[in-house]
Amino acid sequence: MYAIQVEENRSRAGAGATAGRCLPPVPGPFPSFAARHRNIRRIAHLAAQAGVRYSIDHPRSYIHSNLDGFLEVLELARHLPGCEHLVYASSSSVYGAASAVPFSVEERCDTPVSLYAATKRSNELMAYTYSHLYRLRATGLRYFTVYGPWGRPDMAPYLFTDAVLHGRKLRVFNHGDMRRDFTYVADIVAGTVAALDHPPEDGDATPPHRLYNLGNHKSEQLLDFIGAIERACNRKAELVLEPMQPGDVQETFADITPIQHDLGYQPTTTIAEGVPRFVAWYRQYYGM
Ligand SMILES: NC(=O)c1ccc[n+]([C@@H]2O[C@H](COP(=O)([O-])OP(=O)(O)OC[C@H]3O[C@@H](n4cnc5c(N)ncnc54)[C@H](O)[C@@H]3O)[C@@H](O)[C@H]2O)c1
Repeated sequence: MYAIQVEENRSRAGAGATAGRCLPPVPGPFPSFAARHRNIRRIAHLAAQAGVRYSIDHPRSYIHSNLDGFLEVLELARHLPGCEHLVYASSSSVYGAASAVPFSVEERCDTPVSLYAATKRSNELMAYTYSHLYRLRATGLRYFTVYGPWGRPDMAPYLFTDAVLHGRKLRVFNHGDMRRDFTYVADIVAGTVAALDHPPEDGDATPPHRLYNLGNHKSEQLLDFIGAIERACNRKAELVLEPMQPGDVQETFADITPIQHDLGYQPTTTIAEGVPRFVAWYRQYYGM
């Protein structure tokens, strides 16, 4: 969607728009796109520049996609006449390093330790503002370490599996003393669809905006997760223990009581089930 806005900017600016010049302000968001898609009722916005470590070296990419891009999505949702609900991806990283476990959505979350986290927390504040100003019904989902088929190649489950199956050493940060609330992708999909199907009520007093944790509600020791990968691959992992990385947190653990109560969300996949499914997908995908 962000690309569409850029296209519209360019065509409006005409032949005079060259690299380095300021494009003229757009007199309305997505005018032609919104007009062509008046039947859109619900939006699931998951696109983002993801990843904590990449944000250390590529900060501008996060501002571009996660702030500028997110603003375009909010503007689109606001101007679509039939938009009933915007669901967008936030992240467990908004909790920073200081939050008590399990992480509660009631926390203030104003001490992010990476720019990625800061942009995700900003998204929540931006969405809240649009809900307040325009009664946009919106739900932010704080995903917790999603893994499974088609997972992100820069994330630990993928990197570890890749290293074990290829007999390479794997780098383990904070000397292995990390815990993550690993959440299988099918559970994430179930929670996301449930949220999409249940827009927040639009009471008079509070903006129709909600936040939920979408995790497994089980904080696993990283070394136990690696053990599950070893069993699924039927090979031993060779670990290289390294210090904590900038921007990382030692533990994540989701309190999912609100989403269980409101939407009946119930994650069902343990790492004992999910890891072999991921490894099977990986082997098939790479023909191993
Ligand atoms: N995977 C996780 O464990 C995890 C955890 C917390 C939050 N999240 C969030 O969930 C969402 C999905 O994450 P993912 O792991 O599938 O990441 P991903 O990188 O696989 O998917 C993100 C997608 O967004 C697209 N995108 C990025 N910038 C864009 C732009 N400017 N215009 C259009 N498209 C753009 C990318 O091309 C990519 O297809 C993201 O918002 C991420 O921040 C993921």
